[in-house]
Amino acid sequence: MIKNLQIVRYGINGEGIALLDNKVVFIPFALKDEIVDVEMVKNNKSYFYAKLNNVITKSQNRTEPICPYYYLCGGCNLQHIKYDEQLKIKKEIVKNNLSKFAGFNYDINDVIASDKQFYYRNHISFHVNEKGQLGFFQQRTNDFVVIKKCFLADETINKCIDIFNSYFFDNQIYGFNKQTKKGTIKLVDLKCVDKKLLITIVSTEINLPNIEHLFVRLNLLKIKYGVYISLNTSNNFLIYGEKLKNIYGLKQIEICEENVKSFVSSYSFLQINNYIKSLIYNDILKNVEGNIVVDLYSGRGVLTSMLAKRTKKVYAIEIVQDACNDAKNILKLNNVNNVSVLCGDVQTLLPTIKEKIDCIIIDPPRKGASTDILINIIKKNPTKIIYLSCASNTLARDLKILLNENYYKIKFIQPYDMFPNTSNIETLVVLEKNENKN
Ligand SMILES: C[S@@+](CC[C@H](N)C(=O)[O-])C[C@H]1O[C@@H](n2cnc3c(N)ncnc32)[C@H](O)[C@@H]1O
Repeated sequence: MIKNLQIVRYGINGEGIALLDNKVVFIPFALKDEIVDVEMVKNNKSYFYAKLNNVITKSQNRTEPICPYYYLCGGCNLQHIKYDEQLKIKKEIVKNNLSKFAGFNYDINDVIASDKQFYYRNHISFHVNEKGQLGFFQQRTNDFVVIKKCFLADETINKCIDIFNSYFFDNQIYGFNKQTKKGTIKLVDLKCVDKKLLITIVSTEINLPNIEHLFVRLNLLKIKYGVYISLNTSNNFLIYGEKLKNIYGLKQIEICEENVKSFVSSYSFLQINNYIKSLIYNDILKNVEGNIVVDLYSGRGVLTSMLAKRTKKVYAIEIVQDACNDAKNILKLNNVNNVSVLCGDVQTLLPTIKEKIDCIIIDPPRKGASTDILINIIKKNPTKIIYLSCASNTLARDLKILLNENYYKIKFIQPYDMFPNTSNIETLVVLEKNENKN
């Protein structure tokens, strides 16, 4: 055991960092300014990784986590920190990533808080163990943690946990084990928007025993819901298997978001915090300019529909065919006629747009965009580039390329707390053309 380590700063996952023998020590659940005793877990060339044993001097920013699984589950990692301090840490994380991966220090805005710190997630996928119980795999150890309630998930989603546990138990349905290849259920995916629920059971069998017993239990929730089985007989845990079959109720959840009539499907990407999504979409709209706008990584096209109302022409590029079909239907539902939805890879489709583009919006997955895509964006020479990111390390790497040669300058960098109690951050960056560059 190492005694009396002083925490000097936070790491990129919100863990405490101390210094020992000219190396950094990463200590999850330790707070800045605390003095702690730790157990060394890993001794790497350039860093140690340690387990927190005892807090000797407690930070005033420490709080008691409300979740009983918090130190086991690994789904959240900042619940032991007061919310105001979480926001400050997240700002530091973005700043540090910009400095480390993009090589600049920029005065970014304070993180915009979420309205809710708990129960904000409208979408969660649960794994299922060999006893048929719902839970999560712990990030570091991959141990399964059975949970009865997730404090991040919408309350209706939480009510489903017991329902599935009892249905699986009564019917001897078990989670799929990758090693033994035994068991049936890979995931229970739950989306809840406007108190309507869409359930996708990812399973190695298309027919589950006594499925009507599940519906009887779900009916007690007294809400509208739909159930899909996604057949997945391969050795992975992907939601989109070989066949998707609606076995009960709603096929989609119909909603109205940001004055756009839309729907959520079993396979749809959802921005998981409705309040923050709304703020971000509106901030994007405020910054969009020009007649021709390109929405890269457009998903099911809700932002695209909003953009279409503000501009003359929008091109939306999205790789998932089902998401493109949804986008086309959502556009039709809203009488929007000035959008071309291009289905395929941004890398191949962006260069095919021949019109002069005024503004490009980019909202890639966590891995960010490729160098080729970023160079193509610069070649298109838009007046503005609006980058929405859910991973500030790849954002920083990509900004370094976009800001190369000074064609563009930063108008602002705004982080939002889309994911309270976790170290994940959503960040919006608006870049504008430098006037002296054409
Ligand atoms: C973070 S989501 C953004 C969705 C949308 N902008 C929204 O607000 O709902 C990223 C989207 O990029 C799509 N995608 C991932 N890789 C892609 C690629 N290479 N080309 C086009 N779309 C891609 C995904 O299918 C997903 O819908």
